[in-house]
Amino acid sequence: MSLSQNVILLNPTNQLTGLYTTIRDKSTSRADFIFYSDRIIRLLVEKGLDLLPVEPHSVTTPTGQAFTGVRFQGHICGVSIMRAGESMEQGLRDCCRSVRIGKILIQRDEETAMPKLFYDKLPEDIADRYVFLLDPMLATGGSALMAVEVLKSRGVPEERIIFLNIVSTPEGIQKFTDKFPRVRIVSGCIDEGLDESNFVRPGLGDFGDRYYCI
Ligand code: PRP
Repeated sequence: MSLSQNVILLNPTNQLTGLYTTIRDKSTSRADFIFYSDRIIRLLVEKGLDLLPVEPHSVTTPTGQAFTGVRFQGHICGVSIMRAGESMEQGLRDCCRSVRIGKILIQRDEETAMPKLFYDKLPEDIADRYVFLLDPMLATGGSALMAVEVLKSRGVPEERIIFLNIVSTPEGIQKFTDKFPRVRIVSGCIDEGLDESNFVRPGLGDFGDRYYCI
């Protein structure tokens, strides 16, 4: 599949493959699933931060020398798609102290795989921010598309949305880039695809259950 330039993947290093091997393994304990998922989440957040625009910025070092570097331009916030997306909030907080975080509760109907919006609470000035949209799984794309509709209805332009996910599918990415070509997707891995029940193949199971419950 040829990828849009707005789909950015983590480098498939041996280290990353090792992290994915652990979280895909059905015999991995919940403690290890959390620990290794958190490591991938941190890499996704760092990759997302690389996409933010910067402006020139000069400082004076302790030796009295001038150094011209850069600083981030603009403000960011996170928006997690509950429940599984909440697992990515700490990774964002670890990199961006006291970052504002909004929530959108969308649940995928387990029978039909159709998403349903239950609730949203977003920072008032979200239209002026870069938004890191957080959800570990992009399967059919239904949940994420609905979340972007909510963000756009609050005035966030597509080009200021960066969607971070751990596992995506070619089907989900296609649907997403067809509808919102200017949203950037940062994904750790594109899996083979969806099975007849719309589960990700090979996938890693139900991320929310494995991170929070079992
Ligand atoms: C899962 C996952 C995504 C969504 C992906 O959530 O966390 O939000 O499904 O599927 P889609 O791309 O086909 O919409 P789920 O609705 O199972 O809820 P959870 O976060 O409570 O686990």
